[in-house]
Amino acid sequence: MNNKQSSRRGFLKATAGITAAAVAVPSLFASQNSKNENFYGYEDKTIGSFLKLKSAGEMDFNYPDADSPCKAVWVNGEIKAYSLLCTHKGCPIMYSASSKSFRCPCHFSEFDAELNGQMIIGQATENIPEILVKVKDGNIIAYGVNGLIYGRESNIKG
Ligand code: FES
Repeated sequence: MNNKQSSRRGFLKATAGITAAAVAVPSLFASQNSKNENFYGYEDKTIGSFLKLKSAGEMDFNYPDADSPCKAVWVNGEIKAYSLLCTHKGCPIMYSASSKSFRCPCHFSEFDAELNGQMIIGQATENIPEILVKVKDGNIIAYGVNGLIYGRESNIKG
């Protein structure tokens, strides 16, 4: 076997290994989630009424603890919820229903409420953390955070 064939075989083996790992890892997380219905150990927390959010358009709450201000918004027939701490330097961001975005008054970063808190413009370099929510018996329940809340080493205080 020459060097070219050998490196091709090695590449194929490595690719197969990566593919197998990618398939195995989500199923591991899925089984953990279905076991305790929480996202990486977060607690479920009822944040308010679904109908109330739908009529008001936005709803403030704290998650996963009292020191983490968040807001749920009704956007394009969907509930979206985010941390209200800017990922740049932690200033409180404000929701603009007309632009369906969150704006930071400190250095003018802006985040898309429709697209999972994606940064649109400004000094921040990261999206705002998205609060994962579900609806059960007419209530909105927060069950996890996707992204690190500003100023924390871990979202869940130990
Ligand atoms: S703190 Fe929000 S852009 Fe600087």
